[in-house]
Amino acid sequence: MNNPVRVAVTGAAGQIGYSLLFRIASGAMLGPDQPVILQLLEVTPALKALNGVVMELQDCAFPLLAGIVTTDDPMVAFKDADYALLVGAMPRKAGMERGDLLSANGGIFKPQGEAINAVASRDVKVLVVGNPANTNALIAQQNAPDLRPEQFTAMVRLDHNRALSQLSAKTGKPVSSIQRMTIWGNHSSTQYPDLSQTTVDGQPALSLVDQSWYEQEFIPTVAKRGAAIIEARGASSAASAASAAIDHMRDWALGTPEGSWVSMGIPSDGSYGVPEGLIYGFPVTVEGGQYRIVQGLEISDFSRSRMDATAQELTEERDAVRELGLVK
Ligand code: NAD
Ligand code: LMR
Repeated sequence: MNNPVRVAVTGAAGQIGYSLLFRIASGAMLGPDQPVILQLLEVTPALKALNGVVMELQDCAFPLLAGIVTTDDPMVAFKDADYALLVGAMPRKAGMERGDLLSANGGIFKPQGEAINAVASRDVKVLVVGNPANTNALIAQQNAPDLRPEQFTAMVRLDHNRALSQLSAKTGKPVSSIQRMTIWGNHSSTQYPDLSQTTVDGQPALSLVDQSWYEQEFIPTVAKRGAAIIEARGASSAASAASAAIDHMRDWALGTPEGSWVSMGIPSDGSYGVPEGLIYGFPVTVEGGQYRIVQGLEISDFSRSRMDATAQELTEERDAVRELGLVK
């Protein structure tokens, strides 16, 4: 058994928190040999509800759960954290785009970035889930100048998983037969779920489906799935979001299987002409806790225009948070 690691989770009494914490504590995120200490951050009025969640965590008697800290102080929550999952933020309501949350939520991520910079492990891995996730990750990153920019990531894994599931249903093949799926860009309706590299049982996906299904059904269904869930449930996705967060962190910590890749929102290094510094969804492989962008993919004109459109939206979001004084 390894020594315990510290996992900070913000918004821990919220909807996503309620699905996420139990899976982290069960070992689903970091494996069966890795004990965890949960460091849970909430706003002061939610601490009572958080205490109820802690009682339930205790009642599960998870063998890997080595301790729980609850607090409304980011300096306590992020102290020595090895992993930080920034979930706490307002969800959107029907009729809103995720970017509409910038003014409400952006302000949360500056002080949290500063606190992570001050007290977290120097090797902390940060995942931002709270929307708009890519630009909130940029805010946290820009306020943590003593850490490496690549330690800050945003979640596009839910979109990746949605894309796998839609393609699986269309082709009648299991999700496990699908490789090389990519979500490029923003976790928003401009995202580009790209099938041009994807294979199903080794066959090109685009040889198995019509171009019209790809363009008119697949892409919009994946890109607008969050809104469809809000419409159906009256609340935004929670269990599937928590599951994607587990997948993102597990693959970042433990690596991606040989021959496959996943999608992560990471700081662009200029690959594929994406403006440097934007937190953008890329295809990545992971080894030894380090992710690498998959290089050398052919980019068609169709892909190029979609990749540019979602980069443009992220550039506009970055300009907006600059104006709010949240990044330089
Ligand atoms: P929720 O309202 O149920 O829970 C959010 C929790 O965050 C609340 O308990 C709230 O008290 C807490 N919180 C607010 N400000 C905080 C702060 N400064 N510090 C600590 N905690 C704080 O919402 P939810 O359904 O759990 O969703 C959380 C966020 O995740 C939303 O922004 C939602 O849009 C986003 N989300 C992202 C994805 C994705 O794929 N990236 C998927 C689903 C949801
Ligand atoms: C999702 O994709 O389900 C989340 O980002 C919630 C939302 O606002 O759509």
